[in-house]
Amino acid sequence: MADSKPNTKGLYIKTYGCQMNVYDSERMKDVLKPLGYAPVDSPEAADLVVLNTCHIREKATEKVFSELGRLREMKQEAGGTLRIAVAGCVAQAEGDEIMRREPAVDMVVGPQSYHRLPEMIAKLARKTGDILETDFAAEEKFDALPKTREIDGASAFLSIQEGCDKFCTFCVVPYTRGAEFSRNTDAIVAEARELARQGVREIVLLGQNVNAWHGAAPAHDVRGGEWGLGALIRHIAQIGGVERIRYTTSHPRDMADDLIDAHRDVEQLAPFMHLPVQHGSDRILKAMNRQHTASEYLRIIERVRAARTDIAFASDFIVGFPGESDVDFEATLQLVRGVGFAQAYSFKYSPRPGTPAAGMQLQVEEHVKDERLARLQALLNEQAQAFNDATIGRKVDVLFSRAGRRAGQALGYSPYMQSVHVDGGAHLTGCMALIEIVGATMTSLKGRLVTATAEVMA
Ligand code: 5AD
Ligand code: SF4
Repeated sequence: MADSKPNTKGLYIKTYGCQMNVYDSERMKDVLKPLGYAPVDSPEAADLVVLNTCHIREKATEKVFSELGRLREMKQEAGGTLRIAVAGCVAQAEGDEIMRREPAVDMVVGPQSYHRLPEMIAKLARKTGDILETDFAAEEKFDALPKTREIDGASAFLSIQEGCDKFCTFCVVPYTRGAEFSRNTDAIVAEARELARQGVREIVLLGQNVNAWHGAAPAHDVRGGEWGLGALIRHIAQIGGVERIRYTTSHPRDMADDLIDAHRDVEQLAPFMHLPVQHGSDRILKAMNRQHTASEYLRIIERVRAARTDIAFASDFIVGFPGESDVDFEATLQLVRGVGFAQAYSFKYSPRPGTPAAGMQLQVEEHVKDERLARLQALLNEQAQAFNDATIGRKVDVLFSRAGRRAGQALGYSPYMQSVHVDGGAHLTGCMALIEIVGATMTSLKGRLVTATAEVMA
């Protein structure tokens, strides 16, 4: 297009949904770089626009189709030269439908196939028609991705596990992301080393069921056998330069003792755990096929707190699952009161085509869902505010991973995953620094620099 340089092409990726998608978008940039694609700030400046989509709730899917409508017009105005690709979970679940409904789309690529983008683009250039690539081949994908990564900031995602075999009855993930797959231990460790070498200080291990990760112990481990996430975290913590480790998202069924112990033993492991429970009623948990009860969940929380007293918990909740009564909903509020969450995501149940819950009797009326969601969110917001207020006056290590939005402001994260703003702290970007917390809202903290504990990244 007009403003792209002769041999570089503009790439605009719009990412929806979870952190797995954020990671995948970063890796798509790495895959497309050798072809001359460089990121641009707007779709207007792009030669290729990729929508990396989310299928988890109906609203997320609708957004994709309306964005495609806008892109179609843009493509027409550009005389048809703009290429449009749809990636991610909507691509996986509704690939044929997208091709049929939106002829402006050139490529549809599922979450396990984006390493094939270069070959798909080449085929397009030879005009062999629209291209759909939605195989499940996670192993092949990871092998094919470039070993080096483009890093912007002191924190980086590292995908270690994909897919899900849990089949919660409301969820599309097992269908869109495929079966549980654990990446090879050596490949993960090599990627972690490479990130540390590039100056990354925080590694966030990612997976749909990240604590289901397991892999063969590397050759140097004389005990051999199989590693779980706890062992992997202990190993990554030994890599020089890795100051903080986080992981997300976990399932209560996979909360192994060794992982809990790692929270006690590994200094760099952040005292924060995102452990979705979804509901507080055993009847609903059963209908959701969560494979745990409310009291089993509470017992895990207790054990983790015993290992690391200051740990902060986050969770996901669904209100209005089919058959949910007032009494069931009260049980969710009860569970929330019992735990005290630092953060939470809560959603109205959204029937997803092809999932068992979509066909269940006793779907809950929309206005009831609205009322319950408002009550739950009021309680969760109260807890988030209380948690943040409790940090006022404390000094915490903040990792300033990226520049803040406002001029001169630094934005970082506390060990408990609270976002922390420091005015006049732009020079802190890339640093871990000791910050005194002087103010709190429900969603963020305001801090003042006490001391920088590490040099500013070049
Ligand atoms: N309706 C509402 N929320 C859902 N989630 C997953 N599927 C649905 C659905 N059909 C929520 C769950 C999950 C989070 C990522 O999205 O709480 O943990
Ligand atoms: Fe979906 Fe349940 Fe798997 Fe999480 S554990 S991805 S909610 S099926």
